[in-house]
Amino acid sequence: MTAKHVADTTTLNNGVKMPWFGLGVWQTPDGEAVEQAIQYALDAGYRHIDTAAIYGNEAGVGNAIKRSGLPREDLFITTKLWNSEQGYDSTLRAFEESLKRLQLDYVDLYLIHWPVKGKYIETWKAFETLYKEGRVKSIGVSNFQVHHLKDILEHGTIVPAVNQVEFHPLLTQTELRAFCKEHGIQLEAWSPLMQGHLDLPVLQELAKHYGKTPAQIVLRWDLQHEVVTIPKSVRQARIVENAGIFDFELSEEDMAKLDSLNQNKRFGADPDNFNF
Ligand SMILES: NC(=O)c1ccc[n+]([C@@H]2O[C@H](COP(=O)([O-])OP(=O)(O)OC[C@H]3O[C@@H](n4cnc5c(N)ncnc54)[C@H](OP(=O)(O)O)[C@@H]3O)[C@@H](O)[C@H]2O)c1
Repeated sequence: MTAKHVADTTTLNNGVKMPWFGLGVWQTPDGEAVEQAIQYALDAGYRHIDTAAIYGNEAGVGNAIKRSGLPREDLFITTKLWNSEQGYDSTLRAFEESLKRLQLDYVDLYLIHWPVKGKYIETWKAFETLYKEGRVKSIGVSNFQVHHLKDILEHGTIVPAVNQVEFHPLLTQTELRAFCKEHGIQLEAWSPLMQGHLDLPVLQELAKHYGKTPAQIVLRWDLQHEVVTIPKSVRQARIVENAGIFDFELSEEDMAKLDSLNQNKRFGADPDNFNF
C-alpha cells in the first residue's frame, strides 16, 4: 500500500483512477445535512463520494458538488441503480434520472446495487451500453458473490471494474477477495466501520498501541488489504478523523490479528437471501 494522501488513487481494470478513500452517504438526509457532510469531507481533502438512487440524496450530493466550485474531473462520484429499476430499458431510464438529480453529465462509477435474480444480466447489458456511450467512466457491481460474478463474466463482455461489498474485521470475505483480485475487479468496502460497532477489545488495544482511534485502525486495515473504503459520518470531527489513516502502518502481525476476528458476521443483508 503506497497511498500517502486522502485523494490517492488505485487504477481500475479500464485505466480509470479511483480514490482509495471516500465518503459514504447512506442514511445521511438529503438537503443541508448531506451538503454539509460533503463540504466537511471536501475541506478535509476527500475527492470521492458514494451515493445511490435509493439513498434519496442524489440531489443534495449534486448541490454540494456545485457549491464546492471544484473542477468536475477532480471528483469521483459513484451512484447505484436500485433493484426495482433492473432490466435493460428501465436501467437506461433510471440512469438518466440519477444523472439529472446529481446535475452531472457523467458519473465516475455506476453500480448494480444488488444481484436481483433473473434481472442482473439484462441490467449489466444496459450498463455496458452506458459505458460504451461514455455516459459512465466505469461500471461495476455491489453485493455480488463469486457465483454472481462468474455469471457476469460468462454472459457479459466487460469485466466489472469494482465490486462493493460489506467488508470489515468480522466479515473478511477471503474467497471473494481472492476471486476479485484474480479477475482484476477492485474490491470496495461498505460498512467498513461495522456501522459504528467499534468496541472490540482488539481494536481498542491496537488503537492505544498506534496512537490512533479504533475507526482509523479498521480503515487502515482496509487500505493495507488494497480495499477501497467509504466510511460514512455526518460529523466534521469524525470525517476528519476517518481520513487520518495515511501516516502510519499496521504490522503484518497486527493485520493478521484483525483478520483473525472474522466471524462471517453481516450487519447488512445477505446477497444470497434478500427480499428487497
Ligand atoms: N452497496 C451497498 O449495498 C451498501 C450498503 C451499505 C452501505 N453502503 C455504502 O457504504 C457507506 C458506509 O457504510 P455505512 O454507512 O453502512 O456504515 P459505516 O461507515 O461502517 O459506519 C457509519 C456509522 O459509524 C459512525 N461513525 C463514523 N465515523 C466514526 C468514528 N470515527 N468513530 C465512531 N463512529 C463513527 C457514523 O455515525 P455519525 O454519522 O453520527 O458520525 C455511523 O453511525 C455508506 O454510507 C454507503 O455509501 C453501501
